Amino acid sequence: MWYCSYMDNIQTIARDIVAVGKGLLAADESEKTANKRLTSNGIVPSEEMRKQYREVFFLTRDIEKYLSGVIFFEETLGQSTSDGVPFPKLLSEKGIIPGIKVDQGTKPFDDSPDELVTGGLIGLSERLVPFYERGARFTKWRAVIRIDGDTLPTSHAILENAKRLASYAHDAQVAGLVPILEPEVLLEGNHSMLRAKEVLTETLSTVFTAVDDSPVDRTALIVKTSMALSGSESGKTDTPEEVAEQTLDALMASVPPNVPGIVFLSGGQSPDQATDNLRAIARLAKEKNAPWPLTFSYARAIQSEALATWQGKKENIPEAQKVFISRLQRVSEASMGN
Ligand code: G3H
Repeated sequence: MWYCSYMDNIQTIARDIVAVGKGLLAADESEKTANKRLTSNGIVPSEEMRKQYREVFFLTRDIEKYLSGVIFFEETLGQSTSDGVPFPKLLSEKGIIPGIKVDQGTKPFDDSPDELVTGGLIGLSERLVPFYERGARFTKWRAVIRIDGDTLPTSHAILENAKRLASYAHDAQVAGLVPILEPEVLLEGNHSMLRAKEVLTETLSTVFTAVDDSPVDRTALIVKTSMALSGSESGKTDTPEEVAEQTLDALMASVPPNVPGIVFLSGGQSPDQATDNLRAIARLAKEKNAPWPLTFSYARAIQSEALATWQGKKENIPEAQKVFISRLQRVSEASMGN
């Protein structure tokens, strides 16, 4: 049994996750999603190739300068490097906090079948124990909110997802794990940026009402959110300044000031868009004296260029790692407004 250096309390770990200039690598794609990413880059998917894919990132030199933590999927938490070092141990020894996605995916909501609710609450407390023992110190639960004109999302689906997020957060805190609450408002759709902002505000407000109605400690959790963006089928590309203004308006109206930090998902934005929008948000947040640190928790926006460079080939690893660290450095700078 190896020793995990993160024995701090959950408030401290939450603050460490959003340390200045650092953010999270969301390496928590399900096996199915990871296979999709590999296949679309011409790689035949298998457990071994998913492991090698993670290894490209985890063995990149200097990642600890820019990463406070990595979110694992369960399969990856149990995997090791080719030299036999368990991934959580490898990262923990670099000072990077291991985390794990603990929801069990989405299914149609009985009351509104075009919407989704996230499952995984039954037996969650018991499932969390071995994750802690294997080195995880934070967790993530993703809810999915879809916009369709003025019809979706329904308040009912938002509320159901919010209650489940609060219930998960309580179980995680009891297990000594920081909960990341991620109600992702999808980019897909032809909605306007203002509609996205409205839905973001309602969603996050509902989540915090649910948190306040439960014994969850707001000072020991992290919010993971989408940015306020025009839908991907709207034909509109927002400027970073517009994104920053609408996103911060939504956050200021809904996230309590004593929450230790907010991290963003990239949600299908290109690496450059996700970097530029984060920079603009960070700058405006400074100007407005936003009460929480803001940073990245990206999957696609920091992994896709390196994956395309790697192509599953050993000889491409050094170049893929160069591409990865360069993007990480730029995203880290962006999180500080630079
Ligand atoms: O749940 C979503 C992931 O944690 C973030 O992924 O940056 O590709 O949207 P993304």
